[in-house]
Amino acid sequence: MPDALPPARPHLQFTDDGRRLRQVLTYSRRGSRFTPSQQESWDAHHEKWVIEDDAVDQAGFDLMERFGRDAPLIIEIGSGIGEATAALAAARPDHNILALEVWMPGVAHTLGLLHQAGAENVRMLGVDAIWSLENLVEPASLSELWTFFPDPWPKTKHHKRRLVTASFAQLVVSRLRPGGTWRLATDWADYADQMIAVLDAEPGLTGGRVERWADRPVTKFERKGVAVDRDIVDLAYVVRSG
Ligand SMILES: C[S@@+](CC[C@H](N)C(=O)[O-])C[C@H]1O[C@@H](n2cnc3c(N)ncnc32)[C@H](O)[C@@H]1O
Repeated sequence: MPDALPPARPHLQFTDDGRRLRQVLTYSRRGSRFTPSQQESWDAHHEKWVIEDDAVDQAGFDLMERFGRDAPLIIEIGSGIGEATAALAAARPDHNILALEVWMPGVAHTLGLLHQAGAENVRMLGVDAIWSLENLVEPASLSELWTFFPDPWPKTKHHKRRLVTASFAQLVVSRLRPGGTWRLATDWADYADQMIAVLDAEPGLTGGRVERWADRPVTKFERKGVAVDRDIVDLAYVVRSG
């Protein structure tokens, strides 16, 4: 990784005259207050499992060092309250799992679930996932990427905030190893169509719609979608080798 990285927190960047820099972000800045049980989980576990925001854009930051071991890396983007993270990580003790989530109450909740599940192989980071993939992950190094129920941004004027775009797909292809898998799920039909169109058009990927991934636990956002009769779409794409 280069010595001098661009600052890691796009929502905290300011112009020279002190105004907030306007950028298209894939997340909205939600409340940061913890419930008492989230606070308890945070206090008990953050030192062990949360990578501090301001560590990652310092020269010499080494992601693998934070896991304390070399192991194949899986990243989850938008882990929410961590239901999928904890269950999937506990079932993959031989992998390092990095969960990227900017909503800190969700991170705190996840810490409690990781503890219950005994998932020692997870690190959490509250920094923008696009920045993190670009700057913290070596090319062709990632085994899997999971994006389950990314924010759907349903209004047309907000579609530009959706995570899965052609340029993001290019970035993902550059970071996954050949043969590495990108698993996605959404309950939003036109976002599913957009994902399929974008990923089918990406020459580095092959794949498409798959049966519900049996390992994937039902999450809060999946429950919300099912409650209003939305069709859940699972996708899996693999990076072509050679
Ligand atoms: C709709 S929620 C889904 C959460 C969870 N995967 C689930 O299924 O319940 C999407 C989450 O992605 C997070 N998110 C969106 N864009 C992000 C980004 N660029 N970096 C990190 N987290 C992001 C949001 O904060 C939000 O918690």
